[in-house]
Amino acid sequence: MTDRTASAPKPQQLSSQMHCIGCGALSRQATQSFRCPTCGDLLEIIYPGWKSTDGIQANLSPLKNLWRQRKTSDLPLDQSGVWRFREVLPELPDSQSVISLREGNTPVYELPGCARRAGMQRLYGKHQGMNPTGSFKDTGMTVAASFARQEGFRWVACASTGNTSASMAAYAARGDMRSLVLIPEGQISWGKLSQALDYGAVTCQLKTDFDGCVQVLNEVVQRMPVYLLNSVNPYRLEGQKTAALELLEQLDWQVPDHVIVPGGNLANSSALGKAFLEMKELGLISRLPRISIIQAEGANPLVRTLREAGGKELVRVRAETMATAIRIGNPASWKKAIRVLQATDGTVEQVSEVEIALAKAEIGADGIGCEPASAVTLAGLKKLLKQGFVRANQTVILILTGHLLKDPEFTLKFHRGDLFSGSAHEKEARSLSEQQRGPVVLEASADAVIRTVEKFST
Ligand code: F0G
Repeated sequence: MTDRTASAPKPQQLSSQMHCIGCGALSRQATQSFRCPTCGDLLEIIYPGWKSTDGIQANLSPLKNLWRQRKTSDLPLDQSGVWRFREVLPELPDSQSVISLREGNTPVYELPGCARRAGMQRLYGKHQGMNPTGSFKDTGMTVAASFARQEGFRWVACASTGNTSASMAAYAARGDMRSLVLIPEGQISWGKLSQALDYGAVTCQLKTDFDGCVQVLNEVVQRMPVYLLNSVNPYRLEGQKTAALELLEQLDWQVPDHVIVPGGNLANSSALGKAFLEMKELGLISRLPRISIIQAEGANPLVRTLREAGGKELVRVRAETMATAIRIGNPASWKKAIRVLQATDGTVEQVSEVEIALAKAEIGADGIGCEPASAVTLAGLKKLLKQGFVRANQTVILILTGHLLKDPEFTLKFHRGDLFSGSAHEKEARSLSEQQRGPVVLEASADAVIRTVEKFST
């Protein structure tokens, strides 16, 4: 892919470094595990050159225009909603290595029905599920997979609750690399599994949970030349950062009051937070939104880490939730996420399975839809509103991370009314009946259909 962009003056892309979030050590290159060789903590990518006089900071005004202009360019690199922002991404020595499926460029939708029911004046969702493989993972994968290809890897690998595996398998296939997927047996949606298979991944269903798959994969990457594409890979977070830039561009650079994100392995909240902090550092925005993270009650390690351990050490949990994407008990990026919460004055909250199901149906009823893990954002917002942490007249953006069609079984069971049958939530779930729209089985006659329409017209 060739990078021959636009006529506007081009702010220079300056080289990046790996920075350990634990001991602060700097390095040019990451190890196979993407952990600091000195202290074992996670790495992040920093851009020391931004502060220099001829760096990006000196060229801010043309930057917003350049990013916008690229949307009308027909170069593949410009059509990507990620690489469009390449001045704030690590520089890829050879732009021919870029693997892109035209990711990013996702819509911000107003959610009037959700706003009304929640008691907000207005509410918006940035739908990251509208990415090529159906989740926000594509925005990070295009960057990390391109670096894997640049470095000459033949194999890439990830452990996944579903979306990462589909995304990685797609980008590997486009980049002519082989992919290895480790998923927890019986715990990911068929839709996601079928994507990984179709894109040609070697897919191993392990008899463990997501956290167990991560453990096995860490050993595999130490023993084979396989490039790790889980979110400990800091290149993934750099790509995921661009959703925040794109969001601000869509809001004409007016900073929202609050951004609400689901929390699983805690990389996405960390990436979005990093983006807002960098934009402020660069002078692209003058204040930060609050970033809050919502988890499922049954997969709440961050909530417990903050409430029970003051954020000092991770409280691991055995994760259990129907929101399979965030069924994670030992999140890798917990320290990065806490840093974001502190820097943006955000908070954490947890929501029940019934609250998630209701929120998902409400987002669906606005004609948008999302997967259960994304719906925690709306369920969490309702709680934050009740607590007074969010006010009804504020601008709130929900980050909808995955597509409605990921978990069709969840949706079907919800509308048929048997999602919670036989579970501890059965009684609480009776309150959901108003939202349920199960399919109606009828004789093949116009009379029967018309009677049904009349019944629903009242
Ligand atoms: N929403 C969706 C749809 C996800 O797929 C995930 C994570 C999250 C939210 C949580 O994001 O981990 O960055 O905090 N999915 C993983 C996967 C881990 O394997 O696809 P996070």
